[in-house]
Amino acid sequence: MRQKYCIGNWKMNLTVNEAISLAGAIAAHIDSNNKVKTIVCPTFLQLLAVKKILENTTIKIAAQNCAATENGAYTGEVSAAMLATENISYVLIGHSERRQYFGESDKLIFQKLKLAMQYGLTPIFCCGESLTTRENNEQKTFVLQQLENSLFQFSHDEFKNIIIAYEPIWAIGTGKTATAEEAQEMHAFLRAVIAEKYGTTIAENCSILYGGSVNEQNARQIVSQQDIDGVLVGGASLKAESFLKIYNSF
Ligand code: PGA
Repeated sequence: MRQKYCIGNWKMNLTVNEAISLAGAIAAHIDSNNKVKTIVCPTFLQLLAVKKILENTTIKIAAQNCAATENGAYTGEVSAAMLATENISYVLIGHSERRQYFGESDKLIFQKLKLAMQYGLTPIFCCGESLTTRENNEQKTFVLQQLENSLFQFSHDEFKNIIIAYEPIWAIGTGKTATAEEAQEMHAFLRAVIAEKYGTTIAENCSILYGGSVNEQNARQIVSQQDIDGVLVGGASLKAESFLKIYNSF
């Protein structure tokens, strides 16, 4: 059985106190059966406070980013080593907002993935095409290229530790979701190319999540697709009520 995930990406939202309240409100209603692993992604500033609140719960924490270099004179950056020291177990890498607004290339993303794994963090690798790419029906070639340039550089053993999130850019924060069928088609494609590269066992065990305007209305249909192993939720993760409804859609 592939692990299922319900992940809330809080992006650059909430004060530290608001993040603490949200984490507490979510934790009060997440059961501990672990059928669905719940992860929240606070900002670096909120990270340790939220971790403390979630200490005796099954909810895990992911950083939204980490540096592509080990340590040193990189003003404003936070390293994978620093996250690992604080027992943060997951990190988002290659989110489309990082690629788009901060110019992160596949090469840089590869370096981040490498460092994250070197320090024992589980990367949640994000990929996905723009609207123009989708309109030209080039989404498969495009996403495959993203995988080949970064993920597929890793060995079988390394690759096994990576969670993938397919997030079409045109669906992020726009209220436009891919239909469940469109998402399933991409997920099946991703699993097929992973099988080709790493074999069917690894592909069958790889968790591939969907992200892009997931909300309490569409979550059930999305997570019921055969190759969709969970969701990465932005906007709808900022309110405990909607995030919990999404969690309960599994
Ligand atoms: P959204 O964001 O749910 O607000 O579209 C998803 C994401 O960027 O991870």
